[in-house]
Amino acid sequence: MSNQFPTLHIVDHPLVQHKLSVMRDKNTSVKDFRALVGEIAMLLTYEATRDLPMTTRTIETPICSYEAPVLAGKKLAIVPILRAGLGFEDGILTLVPSARVAHIGMYRDEETLEPHFYFLKYPKDIAGRDVLIVDPMLATGGSADMAITKMKELGCKNIKLMILVAAPEGVKFIYERHPDVDIYCAALDDHLNENGYIVPGLGDAGDRIFGTK
Ligand code: PRP
Ligand code: URA
Repeated sequence: MSNQFPTLHIVDHPLVQHKLSVMRDKNTSVKDFRALVGEIAMLLTYEATRDLPMTTRTIETPICSYEAPVLAGKKLAIVPILRAGLGFEDGILTLVPSARVAHIGMYRDEETLEPHFYFLKYPKDIAGRDVLIVDPMLATGGSADMAITKMKELGCKNIKLMILVAAPEGVKFIYERHPDVDIYCAALDDHLNENGYIVPGLGDAGDRIFGTK
């Protein structure tokens, strides 16, 4: 599907696309699915952090003095949406080990598709941090909208959303409500079905990561 959303960045890399195809296969085991979520998390993080500010530091190489490029030390918080967002956590922290982690708990009512909030724990200085909200699935967009809104209520200004599979309905909803939030995803799928599942999708991400069903 073509991308008509100005804030949507699709990470169209062969490794990402191959790993995602394995994950979509209903015969992929829980063990493999979980490992692949972690691997794709790292590849998506690579793109979502591409604009981190840089500075330089003078170092001595074995040969000479050198103004070496280093991260400017901008503070980052990642915000996994429970449960499925937890699948991204380790992969992101492998690449950005100094990031702080805020957890936000919500589940989607299977009938109404409305998100229900149940938990929030965050670092005290979160308002001063760049925030990366992470969840494998963006379906109606209700859960991501609630997570973004809660972060904005805490004073966060620079917010990104990192997703594995997005539905056009969810991207449109988030774009209309939060045009300031860039979305990074591995794929923009076709549509939502009558049960609110993404088509072709990969099923229930939380169930497939944790082996619940
Ligand atoms: C899934 C998914 C998102 C949400 C997406 O979580 O991980 O959080 O649904 O749907 P939406 O865009 O329509 O809100 P779910 O509520 O099933 O909980 P889980 O992570 O515990 O499986
Ligand atoms: N949540 C999921 O885990 N999968 C979907 O397809 C939609 C919402």
